[in-house]
Amino acid sequence: MERTFALKGHVIYTPACGRLALHPDSYLVCEEGKVAGIFKTLPAHWQGVPVHDHGDKLILPGLIDLHVHASQYAYRGLGMDLELLDWLSANAFPEEAKFADPAYAQRAYGIFVKALTRSATTRACVFATLHRPATLHLMALLEEAGLPCLVGKVNMDRNSPDILRETTETSLAETRRWLEESVEFSLVRPILTPRFTPSCTDQLMAGLGQLQREFSVPMQSHLSENLSEIQWVRELCPGTSCYGEAYARFGLFGGPCPTVMAHCVWSGPEERALMKEQGVFVAHCPQSNMNLSSGIAPIKGYLQEGQQVGLGTDVAGGAHLSLFRAMTEAIQCSKLRWRLVDQDTPALTLPEVLYLATKGGGKFFGQVGSFEPGYDFDAIVLDDSALPTTWPCTLAQRLERLVYLSDGQPVAKYAAGRRLF
Ligand code: GUN
Ligand code: FE
Repeated sequence: MERTFALKGHVIYTPACGRLALHPDSYLVCEEGKVAGIFKTLPAHWQGVPVHDHGDKLILPGLIDLHVHASQYAYRGLGMDLELLDWLSANAFPEEAKFADPAYAQRAYGIFVKALTRSATTRACVFATLHRPATLHLMALLEEAGLPCLVGKVNMDRNSPDILRETTETSLAETRRWLEESVEFSLVRPILTPRFTPSCTDQLMAGLGQLQREFSVPMQSHLSENLSEIQWVRELCPGTSCYGEAYARFGLFGGPCPTVMAHCVWSGPEERALMKEQGVFVAHCPQSNMNLSSGIAPIKGYLQEGQQVGLGTDVAGGAHLSLFRAMTEAIQCSKLRWRLVDQDTPALTLPEVLYLATKGGGKFFGQVGSFEPGYDFDAIVLDDSALPTTWPCTLAQRLERLVYLSDGQPVAKYAAGRRLF
């Protein structure tokens, strides 16, 4: 019965994109780690279960970060004056090479997991580095913290410095061993992580496709983020109709291979059709897209055409781990897109970005990101008493101010039915 209890407070969630469900002064019941329902008075069936009374605070589903580089967290906020390919060479690759040293990895991942634990994020799709021992260490830290994340050992066998490149054989052998060793974790699970097409030979991609089918693991990567990157992929993969096909031809683009692709800023009609047909998830990372001058992703259009979309921070392309910031930046970017690029497609709204940060991204993890019965019980409790106002704010207005103004740290957090603090 440890994972059966009730929270009391103002309960808010998005059952559908753009729809806010508001339940003031209600009980949110968790039974055996799953949401049982929201009630105005506690039903007789659950009388006697522990009640955590959060008073006048707001209770939301835990937020989902669909794309973050744990290995880049410790130097976030530095070196933002470059575009993607130069930024990778100048910043990301030299830093990630340091994770060959277990002591360094332990220090850096300790900083990341501590920050993620305090944040409003309950689940994330995480890039580690190509180093198997360091990746397992990160998984152990997340497991211990109670954060049910998907974590990837990165694959890279070309176009990177000697200190951050594996041979094709080593990359595949180490990935197999890592997948086998990952069974020791129960909350944290592995996700295949070819860095992006320029970093992976066809032989490596083919081998990863085989491992995907053998181990039935999901996969994450980057797609159509930057114009120079896309041109490079065209040169590396002659005969493909779009960047997405460079993954799809190895069985690494949705369908039976659950796939999340970061960015999709410049995806054209063929790629969008393939993404939709294959159910590929888009991780929209607006802050990174601004920092690296990548562009403005057409997220409202993706929603209108029925794509699967969630939000990511893409630390350290993004400097912040806060998904509240990602929500506001998604709205702001969509307004600029409407003004500067496409007057036929309106901006995103607050209920839409809350959906992206919860149920939209949560779908990649299963029944996650909503308070509908049967969903995994992930919840955060937010205190807005430090944002005083002379206005008699409605619950929806209190939510809006929290998203725009708070530092994003909840006062209580629950993941998979367990209270983390
Ligand atoms: N594409 C390949 N690697 C990376 C990375 O580390 N960050 C971002 N933003 N894009 C990438
Ligand atoms: Fe990234």
